Amino acid sequence: MDLNTQAEGAANANSARLVFRDDLLAGRTAIITGGSSGIGLGIAEVFGMLGANLVLVGRKVDKLEDARQILEPTGAQIMTVSSDVRDYDSTQDVVQQTVERFGGLDILVNNAAGNFHCPFEALTPNGWRAVIDIDLNGTFNFCHTAFQALKRSAWGGRIINISLSQAASGWPGSAHAASAKAGVTALTRSLAVEWGPHAIRVNNILPGPIENTEGLRRLYEVRNEASKELERMALGHFGQTDDIAQACAYLASPAGNFITGCDLTVDGGRWLKRGWV
Ligand code: COA
Repeated sequence: MDLNTQAEGAANANSARLVFRDDLLAGRTAIITGGSSGIGLGIAEVFGMLGANLVLVGRKVDKLEDARQILEPTGAQIMTVSSDVRDYDSTQDVVQQTVERFGGLDILVNNAAGNFHCPFEALTPNGWRAVIDIDLNGTFNFCHTAFQALKRSAWGGRIINISLSQAASGWPGSAHAASAKAGVTALTRSLAVEWGPHAIRVNNILPGPIENTEGLRRLYEVRNEASKELERMALGHFGQTDDIAQACAYLASPAGNFITGCDLTVDGGRWLKRGWV
């Protein structure tokens, strides 16, 4: 197959997955934490297909490199940065490198998360701290370091925090993650008001279980809980990374201009049905 045919094939595959026009995010630059796998990589793929420049943040260099290769067919400009969201100075470097390379920052997706099933009495202080540090403090770090750049976005800066509906309900066996995400909810709503005058929109996406993710694997599949979890899905199936990514695209686009401080639940009705099974 020649290069032109290959490029055409990739473009066709891209357009088949797109539900928005393909220049929806053209010219924007997005930082996506935890962008080298799972939901983060799915968001990067859709944002790339919609014309955004991508900055992928992750801890492991080899996973970031694999992600870059997966994303190349989208045609996006891609920068990968190895960084731990728990390290404030390192998040400052990511934002600085982003602005140097792309001239600004328009969208921040705080997707990096840590979670594992553990009854509360067995959770060590360090286990608690690790999850609070990644999910809550990591979100603080990037929001704080990205503020000046987001304020200068020509489209109005966007922060999208990937949270959980269990932030409101609590989560037996994952009290650490539910508590961290409850903090993220409060942070999202506080910043939506504080930074509204700077045209920065700050929202949460609340995903349900998503296929082919580490979350589904470790929280349900390895515990033989997947079929029980499936029964809790109103729509009868788990989600795809694209389901979350398209919701993020909506919030990041002009369609989200008047939306701030909201929780957008994208979970196939899981939060509602679990009360009935
Ligand atoms: N059950 C109980 N405790 C656990 C655990 C488990 N399954 N996994 C980790 N911990 C504890 C560790 O024992 C350690 O506590 P200790 O020092 O008192 O023993 C503490 O958590 C930190 O673990 P460590 O592996 O050193 O942390 P890390 O910073 O390398 O990794 C985690 C952070 C633990 C959140 C790790 O699971 C991770 O990197 N996750 C990212 C991916 C992910 O969670 N995806 C799913 C998101 S839904």
